Amino acid sequence: MTRTALYPGSFDPPTRGHEDLVRRSLALADRVIVAVATNSAKQPLFGIEERLELLRTALGSDPRVTVETFDGLLVEFARKVGATMAVRGLRAVSDFEYEFQMALMNRQLHPGLETVFLVPALDLTYLSSSLVREVARHGGDVSALVHPAVAAALQRRFAR
Ligand code: PNS
Repeated sequence: MTRTALYPGSFDPPTRGHEDLVRRSLALADRVIVAVATNSAKQPLFGIEERLELLRTALGSDPRVTVETFDGLLVEFARKVGATMAVRGLRAVSDFEYEFQMALMNRQLHPGLETVFLVPALDLTYLSSSLVREVARHGGDVSALVHPAVAAALQRRFAR
């Protein structure tokens, strides 16, 4: 039986932390679907097509990894694609409350979907998309934090 994991998120933009989590997920699942939420309440910096393209570039061409969008509830997407695992990264205690609530709600809605929390590489634990956006917005160097294609996209977006 193929074990399919979903790695859901906004990925606005994708970071080295996301790439690390995808690699770690592959130790647990046969295939990983990186699932980009289209209906996030947040006002995104990058459009959905741009985020898909950046993710595909950053993640390379591993046949076990696909990048897709989903609309509506994560649990419905999980049912549609037959995923039994949802992967989320836990970086710090501050992530915990939101992640715990989301995991329990998703279990309530779909008991067959197990949430798995993965710990990122130590040197990436401080990293978040929002901090990357903030640093890039003010002209800071994010080249160690994101794939070069993402760094270039940020530079274009914030070019004055
Ligand atoms: O990168 P993020 O913003 O932390 O990702 C949050 C995301 C997209 C995983 C979450 O908001 C989500 O699953 N949205 C889809 C709608 C849904 O299922 N919401 C109920 C979760 S309890």
